[in-house]
Amino acid sequence: MLKKTPLILLIGTLSAAYSLSCPATTQVSQAELLAVGCFSCHGHEGVGAKRIPKLSKLSKQDISESLYGFKSGEERSTIMERHAKAYTDKEIALLAEYFANLKNK
Ligand code: HEC
Repeated sequence: MLKKTPLILLIGTLSAAYSLSCPATTQVSQAELLAVGCFSCHGHEGVGAKRIPKLSKLSKQDISESLYGFKSGEERSTIMERHAKAYTDKEIALLAEYFANLKNK
């Protein structure tokens, strides 16, 4: 029983070290998780399609102002009012930052 302890400790230490050294690409940010809900229309690169606006060319401020406008109903929309109502202020800020920071301007 006692002889097995160091081996168990070694395995535990190695697996902890491995999980710490995992590449960051396996971690998904909260912003990315939220943005998945927008990809079906705006595309995963924020480029849109046909009449769906391109988000990646907008600034963070433009995106958040539009989302607040849709949420309050001040900005007319066909579908965005329903989406925007689902997000908190913090989530709107994360979404605006995410799409504004996409590279394809
Ligand atoms: C079902 C398709 C659909 C989904 C899903 C969707 N959008 Fe939209 N989005 C649109 C359409 C269509 C418009 C144009 C306004 C309208 O008619 O609702 C728009 C407009 C916008 C605009 C204004 C762009 C501009 O040029 O003024 C922003 C910002 C936006 N969407 C952000 C988002 C975000 C962020 C999400 C995810 C939370 C999202 N949209 C999800 C279809 C969608």
